[in-house]
Amino acid sequence: MLSYVNNKFCSLEKAQISVNDRGYQFGDAVYEVIYYKNCKFLDLEGHLKRLRISMSRIDFQLKYSDSAIITIMKRLVTENNIKHGSIYIQVSRGEYSRDHSYFNMPLKPILVILTKKIKEDFKTIIPGIKVYTTFDTRWNNPDIKTTQLLPNVLAKTKGIKNGFGEALFLDKNSYITEGSSSNFWILNKSNILVTRSLDGKILAGITRDSILNCAKNKNIKVEEKKISFDNIKNCKEAFITSASSFVTPVIQVDNIKINNGKVGEFSNLLRKTYLELND
Ligand code: PDD
Repeated sequence: MLSYVNNKFCSLEKAQISVNDRGYQFGDAVYEVIYYKNCKFLDLEGHLKRLRISMSRIDFQLKYSDSAIITIMKRLVTENNIKHGSIYIQVSRGEYSRDHSYFNMPLKPILVILTKKIKEDFKTIIPGIKVYTTFDTRWNNPDIKTTQLLPNVLAKTKGIKNGFGEALFLDKNSYITEGSSSNFWILNKSNILVTRSLDGKILAGITRDSILNCAKNKNIKVEEKKISFDNIKNCKEAFITSASSFVTPVIQVDNIKINNGKVGEFSNLLRKTYLELND
């Protein structure tokens, strides 16, 4: 596999990052995950825009233009012979002898771009997942897409071990914030789509944004507000969204069955619509 590591092309086996990389030592890095379907990058513009926002929120900039990043991505998918897959982009603040403060450090941000091949095209109809809830123990800026993901990693792993496809985080008042690597939505009994607003407690998902646009175009009402357990108990359908899960139906939250434990028509249709948007 050809990769782009430490600001240069190299084979994945030979790729090297310094142990003094601040991403490695402090999680002082930001990232994006972009899917590639039928030779097309999904929601590319939104992901690259958010990458810049993440860097500026933590006070550094990358001297690569978006078109330079896209050129690298295109070379990687071409040389790795990828038709369907995913792209991981990470930018760390740089490498220097370890010190918490980066003030006056001569740092050059380090760009990494990796590709992963997926054999089949993405399925439009999939089984729903069960999810569980757990308190949100992340830092106070989960709206910045940094690589500091330990609470997410632990919550997701605990879920997978116990047969759940995702962990949903709860704020201190027991409202859902978001999934460990996804945004959460319900369709309520009045056919209104509900997802948490961008109140700083969730990541501004790029897929979330696409779904909001989709809903607008199809005249589906949307409310961006907090979701409680009562809302979940009374909802018709639920699903998560992310670059890697697209739209994935949720059929159970803790012990609450959604739509009698069956994937709902709306979630299925929305997944299909999202995937077809990108054909
Ligand atoms: N995660 N919330 C969190 C905490 C996430 O990590 C993600 C995505 C999302 C959805 O964002 P988007 O629609 O832009 O993918 C929401 C990626 C897929 C990951 O970490 O692998």
